[in-house]
Amino acid sequence: MTNGPIGLRGPAFTFRHDPFQGEAEEALVHWPDALVVMRDGVITGFGDHAAERPRHPDDLEVHHYPEGIIAPGFVDAHVHYPQLEMTGAFGETLLDWLRRYTFPTELRFADAAHAARAAGIFLRELLRAGTTTAAVYCTVHEHSANALFAGAERLGMRIIAGKVLMDRNAPEGLLDGEDHGIPATRRLIARWHGRGRLLYAITPRFAPSCTDAALQAAGRLWWDHPGTYVQTHLCETEKEIAWVRELFPAASSYLDVYDRAGLVGPRAVMGHAVHVNEGDIAGLRESGCGVAHCPSSNLFLGSGLFRLHDVAGEGVRVALGSDVGAGTSLSTLRSLGDAYKVARLRGARLHPAQAFWLATRGGAEALRLEDRIGTIAPGMEADMVVLDPRATPALALRTEGRRDLADLLFALMALGDERAVRATYVAGRLAHERDAPPA
Ligand code: GUN
Ligand code: ZN
Repeated sequence: MTNGPIGLRGPAFTFRHDPFQGEAEEALVHWPDALVVMRDGVITGFGDHAAERPRHPDDLEVHHYPEGIIAPGFVDAHVHYPQLEMTGAFGETLLDWLRRYTFPTELRFADAAHAARAAGIFLRELLRAGTTTAAVYCTVHEHSANALFAGAERLGMRIIAGKVLMDRNAPEGLLDGEDHGIPATRRLIARWHGRGRLLYAITPRFAPSCTDAALQAAGRLWWDHPGTYVQTHLCETEKEIAWVRELFPAASSYLDVYDRAGLVGPRAVMGHAVHVNEGDIAGLRESGCGVAHCPSSNLFLGSGLFRLHDVAGEGVRVALGSDVGAGTSLSTLRSLGDAYKVARLRGARLHPAQAFWLATRGGAEALRLEDRIGTIAPGMEADMVVLDPRATPALALRTEGRRDLADLLFALMALGDERAVRATYVAGRLAHERDAPPA
């Protein structure tokens, strides 16, 4: 592996504007033969190859992908690493799925060695899916977060994560004690937040698994640590919402439960937001929260159909989440395919420009990282994915003779998965190569 600059040459795309705000069709900028130069973890040059190449030394190491599509690394804004091993659990809706499958699985993370192994596999799988940034839920165990952060640090990835906070409505072994998990969270923030590319998310699992005292304590902790994140679940299923109403009778809405605890604002990322009304949408926009749309999960658990075009169209910062293990794949391409189907069932059309925006720049904006990731431009961190529109015989047949960028991107989200990720670069270094010989 080299430490010198690397150039990526091939077709690439950038955005003219947010495709949920302006004309989606017009938002994509196609670079048929681009050069991206990466050095010391950041992009130091980007442009049309013919114009850009002379600006760099003759001996620049160039990786040429004439048949690929170069894109910013994908952002998965909501995923549970301990649940990878229980993906595809049969036959339940959210609350029964949690009780029957999720909590027993997360109990296994009391074993630190199990957590370390799972974290390593999970991070490698993210890279295989072309995902370079993720907002990740760990388990209640402090060492589960240590394991993930340590693994991400080794790989140089920009990861946001947190130990889950829960102090009720789960098995004893998964509950924080009377301290609501605050001292452990404080230790994790001190150890990991802002170390290299790592960021901490205070992670109350969702309102039903936290007492009001725990939520208030989490809110105070967030206030005390500017720059950290909050991640939680919001309005995922109707049954859950009814339960929240019973548990928090004084709150005017599910979002208000979090708001009263000081858990709503920029750098708070709400998973799902499937069953939101106009008041919730306005609240999310005005507060500056991000929302993670998790279509694979919503289809798998039968949770409902997110109003993507309404929510993003109103100016809420929307990202894409796999929500593995309720979502069934870490592949962002597959999640985008699912997002398209959810939009269809809502009578809308998810244009590929909108889809790839969600997975890159939109995700970065929802996570307030748009000055660092999600765009190919000098000064941005050099996290890149190279897609292969001819990765499988079916994709090759579908894209034969096609040159239109939007059409190729749409084929990738309709038919693609990890096989269509040719290479993933993290901080300017090759971190995954599909066709590499086995180690
Ligand atoms: N709500 C609370 N916990 C979870 C979880 O682990 N997955 C999903 N999809 N929803 C949740
Ligand atoms: Zn989730």
